[in-house]
Amino acid sequence: MKKVFVKTYGCQMNVYDSERMISAMEPSGYVETKSKEEADLILLNTCHIREKAAEKIYSELGRLKFLKEDNPDLKIGVAGCVAQAEGEEIMIRQPAVDLVVGPQSYHRLPSMVKTVTNGKRTLDTEFPEENKFDHLPKDLKRRNNPTAFLTVQEGCDKFCAFCVVPYTRGVEVSRSPEKIIEEARSLVDRGVVEITLLGQNVNAYSNNHSGENYTLSKLIWKLSDISNLQRIRFTTSHPNDMSQDLIDAHRDCEKLMPYLHLPVQSGSDHVLKKMNRKHTADDYRRIIDKLRKARPDLLLSGDFIVGFPGETDEDFLDTLRLIKDIEYGQSYSFKYSSRPGTPAANREEISEIVKKERLAELQTLLKEQQVRLQKKMIGREVNVLFEKPGRLAGQMVGKSEYLHAVHVTGDRIRSGDINKVRIITSETNSLSGRIE
Ligand code: SAH
Ligand code: SF4
Ligand code: F3S
Repeated sequence: MKKVFVKTYGCQMNVYDSERMISAMEPSGYVETKSKEEADLILLNTCHIREKAAEKIYSELGRLKFLKEDNPDLKIGVAGCVAQAEGEEIMIRQPAVDLVVGPQSYHRLPSMVKTVTNGKRTLDTEFPEENKFDHLPKDLKRRNNPTAFLTVQEGCDKFCAFCVVPYTRGVEVSRSPEKIIEEARSLVDRGVVEITLLGQNVNAYSNNHSGENYTLSKLIWKLSDISNLQRIRFTTSHPNDMSQDLIDAHRDCEKLMPYLHLPVQSGSDHVLKKMNRKHTADDYRRIIDKLRKARPDLLLSGDFIVGFPGETDEDFLDTLRLIKDIEYGQSYSFKYSSRPGTPAANREEISEIVKKERLAELQTLLKEQQVRLQKKMIGREVNVLFEKPGRLAGQMVGKSEYLHAVHVTGDRIRSGDINKVRIITSETNSLSGRIE
């Protein structure tokens, strides 16, 4: 038996891909290890979204190369979005790297690993004709977590001016509903009760199957027929693809959880236009109104970028205003990071100090909102899907329908149980409660 160690950076799609890479290597006699030192193959599944994310890879490679001194047979590979964007540069900058594989060709990993064990270096960053999902072995590993990710859509045709994803992941492609349902059934048969459907633009999902057009909402409804599947989520969505049928699903589909990650990036129309987002701040407000009419308790999460080239104080105030109007329960915010090859890369940047100040102010507001909404949960009853033991003895942690982490003490709680929990306290990033 040989051992493969995979380190994952970036988004949930990479988490899913890492699992699939491990199962792709199994027929070649590899099992997963959590220790770099005992690995025969180390794969870094990388993210290119911001400069820091990409730089981390080079420093990690700088450390990993020393492992080759103790284990000359060790092979090191770089996968994911940095591999796609700067594969050849990686090969030049770090001679310890044996293979580079892009996100659309990792089903070819076993043959690439064979090449490198014969002493050659290899790079594959094609967008192959064949679909990787059709060429990957079925994942039949036992699951020890009741939740799972399932990629249904990949790639992006939106070309936001700041973003590398359309270049690293390619055009939008939606997997066949038949294959998705089959994979979901197999996950449920292995103990999964909650599935999060993944896509770079998951709500742009569209696939013609036996003459019928499947949208994301239709797919969700089909999946909700799987009786032991209790919960469905999806991420990440784009405001322009938030169609009425999907909004209705939030009202009508009991298994679809009341949580939505809907990035807006900025609250200024001027900046949104420069970002090529193709929607205004009011378009976004109207979508949220519709969603909240359909599902009043929906918890919203968003992504924000501060300091995009040309962002004025007034633009920034517009973003704060939008955040105040919406009220987010969860959020992710970033300083703009110029990415080579993107349309915004050549624009004049605003100063690092201003970016830093704006980010701090934005995050203070978002944190206040998160804390306020969490405190509102005290005294309320939620349904918690328990996943794993907590930090304290006898404690279990799970997720509410709104994706809050909830801690509960109780000896009889098992991973995979869904229990009604009364919320008692709210901590920084989680809630605590008791089963009544
Ligand atoms: N497909 C998703 C998310 C893509 S990347 C969407 O369209 O919303 C995740 C987040 O990273 C983005 O929502 C954005 O907020 C942030 N991001 C992307 N490129 C960035 C850049 N160049 N600088 C800073 N943040 C960026
Ligand atoms: Fe990037 Fe925009 Fe596509 Fe999201 S929609 S992946 S931010 S280009
Ligand atoms: Fe990063 Fe690629 Fe995901 S750039 S955010 S790993 S799609």
